[in-house]
Amino acid sequence: MLNKRDYTYAVSAAGRVNLIGEHIDYCGGKVMPAALSLKNTVYARPNGSDRINLAWTDLPVQVSLEIKKLEEYKHVKYANYPAGSACLWQKAGHEIVGCDLLYDCTVPFGSGLSSSAAIEVSTIAALATLAREKLDPVKIALVARDAEHAYTGVNCGIMDQYASACGKKGHAMLLDCKTLACEYVPVALGDHTLVIANCNKPHNLVESRYNERRAETERALALIQTKAPVGCLADLTPEEFDRVSAVLDGEGKVKDRARHVVEECDRVRRAAGAMKRGDICLFGELLNASHASLRDLYEVTGIELDTLAAAAQAHPACLGSRMTGAGFGGCTVSVVAKDGVEDFKREVSARYQKAIGYAPSFYDASIEDGIVVKTM
Ligand code: GLA
Repeated sequence: MLNKRDYTYAVSAAGRVNLIGEHIDYCGGKVMPAALSLKNTVYARPNGSDRINLAWTDLPVQVSLEIKKLEEYKHVKYANYPAGSACLWQKAGHEIVGCDLLYDCTVPFGSGLSSSAAIEVSTIAALATLAREKLDPVKIALVARDAEHAYTGVNCGIMDQYASACGKKGHAMLLDCKTLACEYVPVALGDHTLVIANCNKPHNLVESRYNERRAETERALALIQTKAPVGCLADLTPEEFDRVSAVLDGEGKVKDRARHVVEECDRVRRAAGAMKRGDICLFGELLNASHASLRDLYEVTGIELDTLAAAAQAHPACLGSRMTGAGFGGCTVSVVAKDGVEDFKREVSARYQKAIGYAPSFYDASIEDGIVVKTM
């Protein structure tokens, strides 16, 4: 039995919830994620060998990786994300020290709360800690994103890994995905709180449809660039988009996808302003509008997320609710009056179960720091 106390460090990185700004990080937009208390912790100690030995607190599996052959573990179940993260960190020029790593993940898998980013970021942070490097969370996030591309085949943006690494307790990150400039905005909801619910849709295959959406936005940008000198879709205001959008006529869904991106960028701008002014009602309305756009224009919701968001929006204690993350399944985030949370959970659960046939799950999570290193 492996004992956490026998390790030298506990290095954790967070799962995340995105408050608003969905499917725009890879279009150069600003997003508003927050790091969660749901996290992956890597217990780490040097072992003086030329291997990384992996173990898990909740799996009866152990895998030993040869540091000289880190690219060879791409298809090894459970070990692929740690190996991929280590491999890309090594390729980026960093020393890898022989070590034992014990994984303990409290981010539910497949929930859309970025368990993979938490695993990637905490793995790299643990390796850097063992090599006595000064941690650079942004650099770690960028390499973790490259690992996600290479090992999961999801051509994702930077939001999840950035939030997992750079999150700050009590704050959302207003992250400009074009420049990586980040403004920390206190999540001050007064007598309201965030409630995260998982629609529990089984077999949630995100990869191919995610990459398809991304390709559609790239097509839209290429066509718009024949009419206007823009670097990315997020550079367009809704008015500017209206002036050039005819170039997307006859391109099927591409125009709707691009419209979502442009309008979602505008919603983030207004949502950040509303949060700073304490206008929680407007913030909630923008969450609802974001969900509608992801449902109707971007088409990444599905019956489960739509039913869950609609049940939440219909509850009197709720100011707004939307899907969070890539979509197609996973979680919603809702702004709910603190004194109505228990009734909200009961009602939403009952309505959802009646319509879909099984219950959603609710998570108790707070907004915490991204990477945290503790010496044991
Ligand atoms: C996934 C990706 C992110 C982002 C979201 C959608 O979580 O990893 O980069 O694109 O989907 O906003």
